Amino acid sequence: NIAGPCALVLFGVTGDLSRKKVMPAIYDLANRGLLPPGFSLIGFARRDWADQDFGQIVHDAVKEHARTPFRESTWKSLAEGIRFVPGTFDDDEAFDLLAETVHQLERDRGTGGNTAFYLSIPPGFFGQVCQQLERSGLATAEPGQWRRVVIEKPFGHDLESARELNDIVEGVFAPDSVFRIDHYLGKETVQNLLALRFANELFEPVWNSHHIDHVQITMAEDIGVAGRASYYDGIGAARDVIQNHLLQLLALTAMEEPTAFTAQHLRAEKEKVLASVRLPDDLAASTARGQYAEGWQGSEKVVGFLDEEGMKPGSTTETYAAMKVEVDTRRWAGVPFYLRTGKRLGKRVTEIAVVFKKAPHLPFDDTETEELGQNAIVIRVQPDEGITLRFGSKVPGAQMEVRDVTMDFTYGNSFTEKSPEAYERLILDVLLGAPSMFPRNEEVELSWRILDPVEEYWAANGRPDPYPSGTWGPASADEMMARDGREWRMP
Ligand code: BG6
Repeated sequence: NIAGPCALVLFGVTGDLSRKKVMPAIYDLANRGLLPPGFSLIGFARRDWADQDFGQIVHDAVKEHARTPFRESTWKSLAEGIRFVPGTFDDDEAFDLLAETVHQLERDRGTGGNTAFYLSIPPGFFGQVCQQLERSGLATAEPGQWRRVVIEKPFGHDLESARELNDIVEGVFAPDSVFRIDHYLGKETVQNLLALRFANELFEPVWNSHHIDHVQITMAEDIGVAGRASYYDGIGAARDVIQNHLLQLLALTAMEEPTAFTAQHLRAEKEKVLASVRLPDDLAASTARGQYAEGWQGSEKVVGFLDEEGMKPGSTTETYAAMKVEVDTRRWAGVPFYLRTGKRLGKRVTEIAVVFKKAPHLPFDDTETEELGQNAIVIRVQPDEGITLRFGSKVPGAQMEVRDVTMDFTYGNSFTEKSPEAYERLILDVLLGAPSMFPRNEEVELSWRILDPVEEYWAANGRPDPYPSGTWGPASADEMMARDGREWRMP
């Protein structure tokens, strides 16, 4: 699918995300021939730049971060459509100039007037920018054209602020013109979860409380917050990734089959799950949080969170969060979902582990099955993308001894096609007007409804537990599992 005639206006061009993700993704789309011939990229920022200066910024970002090889011909045609409008968010004239630029590109490059506004800026500015887009007439599409707005998380800080933010954005753009990026939904392996579950007969019959013991969703990172301290402090692990990425993974794992793979049906099924998620009453026993202390990441000595540059002294922000939730539906009654995430953990890995109950009866004696665990299906979101099935198998030899083995599917071995970067996929979907992989506001609010009580509980109850960098989080997280007679998987 190639996007039709359009332009993209990027706010926040000097930010990390623009440089590392958005600009390279646009180039990669161009390189794959998925952008229309007259595609135009307009940067808006408080910088005294000409078009060429902005072009140079994009060029450098592409050279450093693009996935596909640098081709002079792709770059040349992309560069012809690059424009820059200098200005601040309170500058009416700058937005009028932006509107003029959009109209001119429509005439000169045949963008059709179709325009996506990508707000890669702190949410505190969404209101001002949306109002400027409205005032300058940019938010309103003329007949036969479209105008869309792309926003990045954090979508608020809690339920109340999320509502306020949404009122601001949806006060200007119609709900179906608002594209909220949760980049986990753009990942190949996450989308494959839907294929695994709904394109096969093998898994769905056992995907329920009759067979499943529990589910563990892990998003572990080895990096710290260096360079992002001012963003991260006061937000913490749960708001940063559980509210969005992990709860989206939970929703896709637990949801019923959608009537069709349309945005409307997918979102409706995810919302049903999120609305059924319940926190246990005892939050002390069913949550854990930590903060990384100094330690070793491989052979590198790293500083603790409180010693990161720019950190507020004594910050109580968590860099590790774990929680247990239940999904109150017939399919999932009694099956706990354990979510955990952290920075500076043992290694970078995101996975969904569906752990099955023990076989109800084993016709072997205990010594023969000593090394037998529970069956599991592990969806490895990243890295080494793939799916692993764990089951018991007879150890070759005269004895009947049973031990766990795994059966592995890896993308590298099965496909020659390379997965597009999540941003590439999602930006293309914005330009195509395909909203399936973007959460709508209801999902965002339902997710805050789940998280708010945990955040309130934590805020009222002391500090996060320290854990040495390079380990798997605080002891309290292991104790949380042990209380249920379970253990975290070691990915
Ligand atoms: C972002 C978080 O949403 O996801 C970051 O704000 C985190 O803190 C990042 O590092 C991880 O993304 P990925 O794609 O590398 O798993």
